[in-house]
Amino acid sequence: RHVVVIGGGSTAEHEVSLGTAAAVEHALSASGFTVTSVTIGRDGRWSQDAAPLGATPSDSLAAALPLIEGADVVFPAIHGVGGEDGTLAALCALLHKPVVGSGLRAGAIGMDKWATKAAAQALGIRTAPGRLITAEAVEDVDFERPVVVKPASAGSSYGVGLAEDAAQFRAALAEARRYDDRILVEDVVVGREIDVAVLREADGRRWAPPPLEIHAQGLFDTATKYDGSARFVVPADLTETDCGALTRAALALFDALGCAGVARLDFFLTQNGPVLNEINTMPGMTAESQVPRMFAAAGVGYEDLVTRLVAAATV
Ligand code: DAL
Ligand code: MG
Repeated sequence: RHVVVIGGGSTAEHEVSLGTAAAVEHALSASGFTVTSVTIGRDGRWSQDAAPLGATPSDSLAAALPLIEGADVVFPAIHGVGGEDGTLAALCALLHKPVVGSGLRAGAIGMDKWATKAAAQALGIRTAPGRLITAEAVEDVDFERPVVVKPASAGSSYGVGLAEDAAQFRAALAEARRYDDRILVEDVVVGREIDVAVLREADGRRWAPPPLEIHAQGLFDTATKYDGSARFVVPADLTETDCGALTRAALALFDALGCAGVARLDFFLTQNGPVLNEINTMPGMTAESQVPRMFAAAGVGYEDLVTRLVAAATV
């Protein structure tokens, strides 16, 4: 079986995506798959094994299409806009090529933290009280109370800031706008940070391994995510009631969006139960990332997980 793994991408998560792609490629090769490594550069140009396939994004994509057509399965290992948001799933759908992970709808809704919030609320899943600030309104909004400011569509906490006064609020809005015209402003939620993963297997059955707790100093921000200082505890030490509530909420949103492959849903566990922070439809998949650790705790090793994802790829 021949798998094309696509990594990189033109967002701030380029490097993280390369890390995920490298780990996936390594595991697939070790499991006997033939792997073709394709990268989308920060400039939008596609490369094969680090050699550009053309001088422009369109030329290089045209040269990449035969590689995709020649594969049995495509594994889009790209976090963020232009990959995780359903773009690559849509390309594969147009080519009738089996693709790992969620399709266009789940990817697009999951990438947009405001749309995710609306979907979760409709299902009775609590989220932080918040509002969307559009580019048109950004000059008119005033600071009212401490808030978290984030781009509606970004990942790895890029552009996310805590604002405790008016000056910090203006600075946080400007920073978030570097990543997106649409900004989410949310009340600060106090709770334990718990991640839940969900996997849809080739037979359509979906299940959640034991949740994971993140212990970080202060915010689990971009630096803490990748400097190795955060500690993960898996299985998280949870009461049966809390574990049940977290897992039910994760499965309900996974099902409602029609997710495929693996997703990671990030919650705050408050004194009044789980509050959903976000869903990642192409979560970080380096060997050290949260998702592989949760599956390892359920007895599914990294190579096994990646092989299951390829087996579950759909057209
Ligand atoms: N967006 C990052 C890669 C994550 O979900 O882990
Ligand atoms: Mg994310």
